[in-house]
Amino acid sequence: MASDRNIVWHDASVSKEEQQERNGHKSFVLWFTGLSGSGKSTLANALTRKLFENDKKVYVLDGDNIRHGLNKDLGFNDDDRKENIRRIGEVAKLFVDAGHVVSTAFISPFREDRDTVRELLGESEFLEVYVKCNLDTCEQRDPKGLYKKARKGEIPNFTGIDSPYEEPENPEIVVESDSQNVEESVEQLLRELKKRDLI
Ligand code: PPS
Repeated sequence: MASDRNIVWHDASVSKEEQQERNGHKSFVLWFTGLSGSGKSTLANALTRKLFENDKKVYVLDGDNIRHGLNKDLGFNDDDRKENIRRIGEVAKLFVDAGHVVSTAFISPFREDRDTVRELLGESEFLEVYVKCNLDTCEQRDPKGLYKKARKGEIPNFTGIDSPYEEPENPEIVVESDSQNVEESVEQLLRELKKRDLI
């Protein structure tokens, strides 16, 4: 298809493998998914801080932040969420090519979209992290007051209220954020990464 548009792939002068070798670790994506308020951003950032302090090349791609810039043209209907995740998958891949451990924090409610990113990255470079937290707890936390607004009908298509969240079927890691604290969850994530020889 690209050839129809006169676009030809140009190989990079520095390969992903060379980047990884210089950095001294593999590069991959930790794809945090879960309801609003489940703790995706908190965990992605806490883990990333630990990895940074251990001299890893790291980056966080966060839903709220990306929607301020790159994806500010997108809303929350199903098509826009799909496009949001497609773009983030592509950006995450670029960071992996650059040798980074990328943590993404997006609700990413649709299984199909997450699986598309998995295919794009490949099994060895994509870890789905399900931040599992029941809706009641997320709603009680309500850190941004969005559930309250959604219940009043002020935010249409709110995930978990009038827009679906499809739970992962085979995530690499499940973090139970309603029963363990941030420190415990970060320890769990670090253990999983070591077990897989990723760090
Ligand atoms: S998605 O579904 O992956 O495209 O969403 P994402 O890019 O992660 O953005 C989710 C954050 O946007 C805020 N917000 C909403 N969330 C869900 N549904 C609706 N309708 C909505 N409107 C705004 C909300 O702050 C989400 O942040 P988190 O960190 O998940 O709470």
